Amino acid sequence: MKVNYGYRTYNPNYYKYNHNPSFGTNGRVYKSQYGVEMGTMTYPFRSDIDWKKLTEYMIRHFKNKDKVNIVQFASSDGSEAYSQIISFLERGKNEDIGKFFPIYAYDIDEEIIKAAQSGLLNIHPENMEHINHNCKDYTEYFKKSSKNLEIKNNVYDLFQKKYTTYAVSEDVKKKVIFKQADMFDILVHLEDDSNTVLMCRNVLGYFSDRVIKNTVEMVSRKLKKDSLFIIGKIDTDSWIKNYLKANNFREIIKNVFLKIA
Ligand SMILES: C[S@@+](CC[C@H](N)C(=O)[O-])C[C@H]1O[C@@H](n2cnc3c(N)ncnc32)[C@H](O)[C@@H]1O
Repeated sequence: MKVNYGYRTYNPNYYKYNHNPSFGTNGRVYKSQYGVEMGTMTYPFRSDIDWKKLTEYMIRHFKNKDKVNIVQFASSDGSEAYSQIISFLERGKNEDIGKFFPIYAYDIDEEIIKAAQSGLLNIHPENMEHINHNCKDYTEYFKKSSKNLEIKNNVYDLFQKKYTTYAVSEDVKKKVIFKQADMFDILVHLEDDSNTVLMCRNVLGYFSDRVIKNTVEMVSRKLKKDSLFIIGKIDTDSWIKNYLKANNFREIIKNVFLKIA
């Protein structure tokens, strides 16, 4: 059986038996305006970052700053923003964490930004394992909702519907602003005062080598010494890491780069 699912034709059996994806909170696919097939798959506490280490590092590293700007490119359904906020709330209750908020989170895809802005999140049991591993009591942050969050062209819908829709707590929601935008437009106007954390995770890997190179060079021009640039698993071809190092970044935690000059 084949199912035409928006841009692509999927064979559910292929996915079920051969691909065996680890479930995200969504598995939407679409054809981007740049002509590539793009996936919005994400999940809370995506394991290519050590969230505890990162958060503790940020609290220490920016202790003398009054304001820290966390900017997330390719924010998808909000899972990444929620991971960062919950990490602060879990580890920094007695710390000055207000200066890290609000997070500005951008995604180019209207459908996925609409999902993020709804304040709802579809959580699969696999995602719940990651959440529980990173916080003491998930019900402080997520409550079962009577609503059903529909996300178009979600390939996971094809063969397994085990999601539950949760409402994100008000306290978490108010700490992030989701906007639909192309990250390259935001990057051009980004201003830094050595107090930026720029997350650009699991998106560069979709682009051509030329685009990746230009992006790394521009990020290096924009970010000043002591700011952070963070990438993800699908971006971590060795040449990207080496190119970041050649452009004045040092990897201080896996996938987390400190601007050193
Ligand atoms: C695989 S998801 C990554 C989600 C999340 N950052 C993570 O690591 O789990 C890639 C996201 O990049 C977004 N995206 C692609 N091109 C973009 C662009 N030019 N500007 C902003 N977002 C973009 C897609 O819509 C998609 O939601």
